[in-house]
Amino acid sequence: MTDLKNDRYLRALLRQDVDITPVWMMRQAGRYLPEYRALRAEAGDFMSLCQSPELACEVTMQPLRRYNLDAAILFSDILTIPDAMGLGLYFETGEGPKFERPLQTRSQIAALPTLDPLVDLAYVTQAVSTISRELAGAVPLIGFSGSPWTLATYMIEGGSSKQFSKIKKMMFSDPQSLHLLLGKLADAVISYLNAQVDAGAQALMLFDTWGGVLSPDCYRFFSLDYMQKIVEGVTRESRGRRVPITLFTKNGGQWLEWIADTGCDAIGIDWTTDMAQAKLRVGHRVALQGNMDPSMLYANPSEIEQEVQRILAQFGQGRHGHVFNLGHGIHQDVLPEHAGVFVDAVHRFSRAYHG
Ligand code: CP3
Repeated sequence: MTDLKNDRYLRALLRQDVDITPVWMMRQAGRYLPEYRALRAEAGDFMSLCQSPELACEVTMQPLRRYNLDAAILFSDILTIPDAMGLGLYFETGEGPKFERPLQTRSQIAALPTLDPLVDLAYVTQAVSTISRELAGAVPLIGFSGSPWTLATYMIEGGSSKQFSKIKKMMFSDPQSLHLLLGKLADAVISYLNAQVDAGAQALMLFDTWGGVLSPDCYRFFSLDYMQKIVEGVTRESRGRRVPITLFTKNGGQWLEWIADTGCDAIGIDWTTDMAQAKLRVGHRVALQGNMDPSMLYANPSEIEQEVQRILAQFGQGRHGHVFNLGHGIHQDVLPEHAGVFVDAVHRFSRAYHG
């Protein structure tokens, strides 16, 4: 196992000293890059990229060739688990992900298979090993999964949703069935993430994209409790290093203390939460990842640099623990040069806050 040449992302997650603030971008591999669009057109569709370890590796590496990123993230999707459970994932242009066989009844939930990630999601673990070999210790590799709640929204709604009426109907009229599903998903996520760590992932992240549509009580019982189960169930050390886990609940800014209570290493925060406030509330317990509005990349370079400086100043001096990122995925119509301005600005202007 090659040792890491650049470990500042892992160090920041553990709130250790770093020379400059590490940075990566959610959805850093994707449609805003012309080289991604070219490869995708060649491959035919998005899932073909995910299912080929070589292509997934190539796409993972694309943003690293352009920018001085401090981490790589596995190129895959959160919906691989429901697909492997037999729901039939497909993508309709402009409409996002869909399932051929969404879950409608308790008996369908009860009949969901238990996954063996090494068999049912072998293309993902093979992609992780291929990427890890290709990276050769240049930067750490992040493995990820969706949170049980977020996966369940797609599985029950049958795709993306605005109202979440089907899953909320189940939540309030038949909570036992929903808990049965969330429990099965938590078990699947634990074995999936552990297989990613075994294959070479050095940090983990849970995407709870839709936790923020819940009331505080429902968030706790239907999303956070299951993420806590995952935090407790995943491998936290591998090859002599801690494997940090980051929880990201979009629109979850009011629950930072609860999220820190799960025992995670870091919390991802979107742009609706003030970084200085977040640091005061939980910065002594966990690292914080974020939090520039991805739409800021539409602004001109000098404004992007100013916004980076503003967020760095908000996080401020002191015991570290900041991983710079966008507050959500990069938009597909952003100019690639602007992403470069962002990454370089984080490195250039953060030096003053360290050492
Ligand atoms: O961050 C990365 O670079 C790693 C790759 C990654 C993708 N999806 C690639 C992808 C990650 C971490 C995800 C997570 C994901 N997928 C989430 C959680 C994060 C978030 O954004 O909140 C969710 C909700 C999904 C489900 C999903 N997959 C959606 C909503 C979409 C977009 C559909 C569309 O047409 O806009 C996808 C497809 C997807 N996943 C793409 C990429 C690069 C676009 C595929 C393409 O058209 O080429």
